Amino acid sequence: MKKYNVGIIGATGMVGQRFATLLENHPWFNVKILAASPRSAGKTYAEAVGDRWKMSVPMPESMKDMILLDATADVEKIAGMVDFCFCAVDMKKDEIKALEETYAKAECPIVSNNSAHRFTPDVPMVVPEINPEHIEIIKAQRERLGTKRGFIAVKSNCSIQSYVPALHPLKKFGLKKVLACTYQAISGAGKNFETWPEMVDNLIPFIGGEEEKSEQEPLKVWGEIQGNEIVKAETPSITTQCLRVPVSDGHTAAVFVSFENKPSKEEILELWKNFRGVPQELELPSAPKQFIHYFEEDNRPQAKLDRNLENGMAVSVGRLREDTQYDYKFVCLSHNTLRGAAGGGVLLAELLASKGYFD
Ligand SMILES: NC(=O)c1ccc[n+]([C@@H]2O[C@H](COP(=O)([O-])OP(=O)(O)OC[C@H]3O[C@@H](n4cnc5c(N)ncnc54)[C@H](OP(=O)(O)O)[C@@H]3O)[C@@H](O)[C@H]2O)c1
Repeated sequence: MKKYNVGIIGATGMVGQRFATLLENHPWFNVKILAASPRSAGKTYAEAVGDRWKMSVPMPESMKDMILLDATADVEKIAGMVDFCFCAVDMKKDEIKALEETYAKAECPIVSNNSAHRFTPDVPMVVPEINPEHIEIIKAQRERLGTKRGFIAVKSNCSIQSYVPALHPLKKFGLKKVLACTYQAISGAGKNFETWPEMVDNLIPFIGGEEEKSEQEPLKVWGEIQGNEIVKAETPSITTQCLRVPVSDGHTAAVFVSFENKPSKEEILELWKNFRGVPQELELPSAPKQFIHYFEEDNRPQAKLDRNLENGMAVSVGRLREDTQYDYKFVCLSHNTLRGAAGGGVLLAELLASKGYFD
């Protein structure tokens, strides 16, 4: 595989820092450009981040002295220097939409962690194990944008990255009704316990916009390409409650599900065990070997013990049992800034690279 030059837009932020650490020794991607707001532009990466570095591993040596560019003012310059960019910025939705389209129109593909374009009908929202075929909509998107190379591809919200993978292999039984309560880590808000001390010994029963995303995004991921757009699936009906909990990393979901044709517990366990997607078949560098890990122990998965499984790219599931209101219930966990954010973005980029979308 050839090496691609990449940029990180929003490199100073929580997700941007994750991208930096994940890409440090990546076999296919070489970080050429770091960009953020005008506040950071012109500074070295080390100066711009200062004491905001939140990763448990140090800032990559190779990036410390890189001079940050201005993500908005330097679009043409950046587009000319890289094969594509990752994007994770904290800006208004309309501004992010416009910024990502400007990059795409400058012929710089964008792999985005932002929510702004998730419901743009010709922008694929991809969990690579679940709907890799949605990247084929990029052809229609390029026609709309008038580009040869440029496009936008997004990953879904971190909250759905635990329960959608667990439900996906069960679709053949007809997913009818899903109820999911998520217990989400504070890094999902770009915070740790130092910057958000109010979260110690606390729980906040509201995360702005999260329940809508958690209910609607799975339907786009399970949708299908019809003409120039991805049409959302109509089932299952999904209801959620999303809570912020005092956990540093790792979103847990307690899930209840009913089927058209109720499977046996053994059938479900077998499907989880054997679930392999395109990333596993292509052996993409960031793909977990075993996507879904099932724990037999009653007290697993636990955020602290299990979030880093397979470099934080696997999904952990446990406590599958019958329910009195629904057919089954279970608990699942995924690392929100790895599988749920930067790692999921890198895996999506690997899928796109392997299919020639950055050439
Ligand atoms: N944290 C998660 O687990 C997670 C998961 C999935 C998706 N996301 C999404 O990823 C995005 C970033 O989240 P985060 O937690 O990394 O946020 P964050 O830590 O607050 O970082 C925000 C980044 O955006 C940059 N930025 C702010 N204003 C800008 C501007 N006008 N022009 C260019 N860059 C600008 C900041 O640069 P400066 O340092 O120069 O201000 C910084 O690099 C958000 O859309 C978020 O919803 C986050």
